[in-house]
Amino acid sequence: MNLPSFLWLWKIAAWSMGLTIVCYLTLGLSGTFLFKIRKDKTPPKKWLRPFHRSIGILMVTLILLLLSIGLIGTIGHYGSLGHSWHLVAGLVIVCLALISAWSSTNIHPTKPWARLLHVRVNIALFFSLLLVGLTGWSVVQKYLGGAEKLL
Ligand code: HEM
Ligand code: HEM
Repeated sequence: MNLPSFLWLWKIAAWSMGLTIVCYLTLGLSGTFLFKIRKDKTPPKKWLRPFHRSIGILMVTLILLLLSIGLIGTIGHYGSLGHSWHLVAGLVIVCLALISAWSSTNIHPTKPWARLLHVRVNIALFFSLLLVGLTGWSVVQKYLGGAEKLL
């Protein structure tokens, strides 16, 4: 696979990652509002819960999209996987995102563990976003370095 046709895939990855981070911040904010409403026992805003859930589904979808771009791009280029720590970071973030979504479907007054798990996994998600972003960025530099040498 030649380099210019390969780079556009990583541009999509970078944009999807930007959108994923926006989703995460929006979820953090709307989640904090959900928490406050529960604590203050104020009547819940009707739209807030479906909004939080929809953005959550969008974020999980984007992360799965990034996973498939990563796998397809890497196999297309090398014919194999496992060329950097980015693979581990990528698999960790996919697991955390799925656990977060699964735990959220269990949130209920009779299941206090689900809410706790949801919040803790989402804190871990912050660090794994950082890790996958940094390791992804460093492998992109590898390709950009190659492109400069070609010119
Ligand atoms: C993976 C996608 C996500 C889905 C599907 C999702 C869904 C949910 C659902 C259904 C609730 C329960 C709302 C309720 O009935 O009280 C909830 C609560 C909450 N979520 Fe999420 N969420 C997601 C991601 C996130 C993320 C990334 C964060 C933080 C950055 C977050 C923070 C919170 C917080 C703080 C609460 C309130 C917990 C409480 O009341 O103590 N969520 N979420
Ligand atoms: C949730 C976010 C992401 C996930 C789940 C993910 C997942 C993956 C996976 C599983 C691979 C295969 C790695 C291997 O087998 O060595 C990969 C490769 C790659 N990803 Fe990501 N990725 C994410 C974000 C990013 C970001 C933000 C960038 C940078 C813009 C990026 C750039 C790359 C590049 C350049 C490769 C090729 C690997 C190499 O040359 O060693 N990824 N990704």
